Amino acid sequence: MASPSASDQAKQGLSWMEWLQGWSRVIYELFFQRIEARHLKTPLPLPPLNDLTCIVTGSTSGIGLEIARQLAESGANVVMAVRNPTAAHSLIQTWQNETSSKDSLNIDVMELNLPSLESVVRFSETWDSLGKPLNVLINNAGIFSMGEPQKFSNEGYETHMQVNHLAPALLSLLLLPSLKRGAPRGIINVNSVIHFVSTVDPNDMNFVSGKREFSSLAGYSTSKLAQVMFSNVLHKRLPSESDISIICVEPGCARTKIERDVPKFIREVGYRLFSPVLFNAEEASRSALFAATDPEIPKYCAQLRCDEWPACAYISSSCCPMNPSNEARRLDVSSLVWQKTLDMVGLSGDCLEILLEGKEIQCSLELTLNRNGLY
Ligand SMILES: NC(=O)c1ccc[n+]([C@@H]2O[C@H](COP(=O)([O-])OP(=O)(O)OC[C@H]3O[C@@H](n4cnc5c(N)ncnc54)[C@H](OP(=O)(O)O)[C@@H]3O)[C@@H](O)[C@H]2O)c1
Repeated sequence: MASPSASDQAKQGLSWMEWLQGWSRVIYELFFQRIEARHLKTPLPLPPLNDLTCIVTGSTSGIGLEIARQLAESGANVVMAVRNPTAAHSLIQTWQNETSSKDSLNIDVMELNLPSLESVVRFSETWDSLGKPLNVLINNAGIFSMGEPQKFSNEGYETHMQVNHLAPALLSLLLLPSLKRGAPRGIINVNSVIHFVSTVDPNDMNFVSGKREFSSLAGYSTSKLAQVMFSNVLHKRLPSESDISIICVEPGCARTKIERDVPKFIREVGYRLFSPVLFNAEEASRSALFAATDPEIPKYCAQLRCDEWPACAYISSSCCPMNPSNEARRLDVSSLVWQKTLDMVGLSGDCLEILLEGKEIQCSLELTLNRNGLY
């Protein structure tokens, strides 16, 4: 009898035991994150970062805002990649007025609208035309449309999948040539422990086959798991001499605008109930800032590569290495997610090699609607 293919092995859901373990991990994070992170200072002390250029997506609110502000205040050149440039300029003005430093903050603003893959391509083309080296890309922007019905992006992809995984994946790949020009260099994905309660079916990334019922929680958690799986393969495929660290981070459960779709009354009750254990955005920015600036991180990533560990580095909200979920460490499914992601964003299977060689790449954006179940 033929052994089951990897695509057969992709699960439609977790067993009840795995589901219980996954939720225990999420609940543990919520109730014990403060205790686990008690050794950390807030704000996280950062070294002078004058030689660092960082792109931070979604930096007009919540965790991304804190990451961008603290990097800039430590001297980094920060590029705020945002959907609302006016809001970004007004934030810069405020930070500039508040900063104790005599020098002005070194911040630029560029428009990036993740529900459009075309916007991602335009962003990377504009960035590339500047010819500047890039040290750190922080894929922070994300959505969790709690309680909302299933929606699709311009290209026809489920919106959590597009904003939280597909668009950041495309951005990461297209920025590899400028990352190669920087040193140190890394890609940081602001992920979530919620990936512990999910599975990804690479043949149904859009929840359209009817095999799995869509809910906003399923959409969000699946997109975060797909991000870890894609990052695992990117980490494995990048040649070690490229020296590009791929890191996923858990920010912790924080009070931000991520719950914007939840009715105000329920949101307020939730905040009151959980306020003793929730992080604020500054506390939740520490793991990404740590991953972006700690000198041990590139060594840790190189070590994982040597050890043949099946996942990229994953940093917890207490700034310690942690293991992603068992599902996230399945390299067979991760490879399928990698391939499907490239198909969905219009890149060929050899795009990584082409991009690393610095050659021009064609991104076919003839991404016709896929709601008929093609993906
Ligand atoms: N808060 C938590 O408890 C928690 C836990 C685990 C993981 N995370 C992750 O942390 C990251 C940051 O979330 P947050 O809590 O700081 O939430 P947030 O306050 O809602 O910030 C999200 C950021 O993403 C931007 N964004 C949303 N949709 C976008 C789009 N279509 N195109 C471009 N930018 C877009 C938002 O822009 P606007 O300012 O224009 O709205 C905002 O700046 C997300 O990836 C989230 O999944 C958060």
